[in-house]
Amino acid sequence: MKFEFADRVNRLPPYLFAEIEKQIKEKKAQGVDLISLSIGDPDLPPPPFVVEALKEEVANVKNHNYSFSQGEPDFRQAVAEWYKKRFNVDIAQDQVVALLGSKEGIANAARAFVNPGDRVLVPDPAYPVYANGSTILCDGEAVPMPLLEENGFKPDFDAIKAKKAKMMFLNYPNNPTSATVDKKFLKEAVEFARDNNIILCYDNAYSEVSYDGYKAPSILEVDGAMDVAIEFSSLSKTFNITGDRIAFAVGNKQLVGGLTKIKSQVDSGPPVYTQKVAVKALAAYKSAEPPEFLKKNNQILSERRDTLVECLGDVGFPCEKPKATFYVWVNCKGDSMEFAAKLLSVGVAVTPGVGFGKHGEGYARITFTQPKERIIEASERIRKLFK
Ligand SMILES: Cc1ncc(COP(=O)(O)O)c(C=O)c1O
Repeated sequence: MKFEFADRVNRLPPYLFAEIEKQIKEKKAQGVDLISLSIGDPDLPPPPFVVEALKEEVANVKNHNYSFSQGEPDFRQAVAEWYKKRFNVDIAQDQVVALLGSKEGIANAARAFVNPGDRVLVPDPAYPVYANGSTILCDGEAVPMPLLEENGFKPDFDAIKAKKAKMMFLNYPNNPTSATVDKKFLKEAVEFARDNNIILCYDNAYSEVSYDGYKAPSILEVDGAMDVAIEFSSLSKTFNITGDRIAFAVGNKQLVGGLTKIKSQVDSGPPVYTQKVAVKALAAYKSAEPPEFLKKNNQILSERRDTLVECLGDVGFPCEKPKATFYVWVNCKGDSMEFAAKLLSVGVAVTPGVGFGKHGEGYARITFTQPKERIIEASERIRKLFK
C-alpha cells in the first residue's frame, strides 16, 4: 500500500536541523572529531535543585494523573508570581496556559486562530516553526518580514503589507540573529498589531539567557499589549531542561483560551510532575534579578561568546557580541552553505543562515553550547582555515 501525505505536509520544507544532524552523524562515522556549533541545545546541566525536585515530584504517585488542560492551578499561580517579580506585570491564573515546550504552544496557537489562506507575518530569518509547524500546517500563508542588519534585525513595520494578516510572530532575544530590542520597539509592535487587528505572538524563549547586564523585556510590559498579545516563555533554556518539555503562554485571555481549547482536544497538558518542578524552579527568582545559578551559567556562556567573537574578528568576520541567546550571527560574506561546508571540512559544524529563510543568506549561526575548551579548539581550527 502507498500512503499519500496530506498536501500541507508536502508543502513543508525539509527540517533543516534534521539535515544537519545527518551530516554530523556521517562525519562522526568517518571518525572525524566533530565540534558541533550548530544546534541550540545547552550542554550545561540543570541546576542540582531542579534535578532534586524532579526526583521528588516523579516519586510522588499523586503526580501521575492527567493534568488540567490549561495547567495545574499552582503552576499557573507560580507563573503569575514570576511575571510580577521578573517583569512587574500583573496577570491572573486564567491568563496562563502550561505548554509542552513553547514550540508546541507556537504551533497550536495558529491552529486556534488561523484559517486556510490567512496570512501570517513571520520574521525572515527565523526559528522555522513560525512558518512551518504553525502557518503551513494550518494551510495559512507565511508572509516574510525581512530582518535586515541595517535595521538591527528588526522588521520595518512601515514596509509591511498588513492587509488580511491574522497573526504576527516576533522573537527577541532573537534566534538566529541574537538581536535584542528595547521597549520602544515593543510599543511600535503593539501599536502595529492593534491598528491592523493582528494577533501578536511574542516568543520570549531566551528572555533569561543574557549578558553584560542586559535584561530582556516582556511584550506584556507595554501598555495595551494585553489586548493583542500572547507571550511564549519556556523553562528549557533558563534551567537547561530542554528535554523535560515545560513552558507556558501568557497574555490576552481570549488568546490563551483559544490555545487551551486546542490543547484540551490534543494533548491534555504537560505531566503534573514537570509542572510541580517548574513551580520550584520559578520560585528561585526572589526579585527581577536572576538567581545565582543562572548568573553563573550566563557568565560561562559569555566567556565562550567572547572567545568565538574574538576569533571570528581575527580571521576577517567581525561581529557584535550578542547581549543574549547562545548564538553568534556572523556575516560570512558569501554563500552560507559554502561557508558551512568549509567549516565542516575542518570538523566544525555551524548552521548556514539560508536555512532560517531567504534573508538569512550571507550569514551563519554559530552556537556556543559546547565547553570552553571545545570552543577554543574550534576557534583554532577556524583560525588555521582562514589564515
Ligand atoms: C526562538 C525559539 N523559540 C522557541 C523554541 C522552543 O523551545 P521549547 O519548545 O524547548 O520551549 C526555541 C528552541 O530552540 C527557539 O529557538
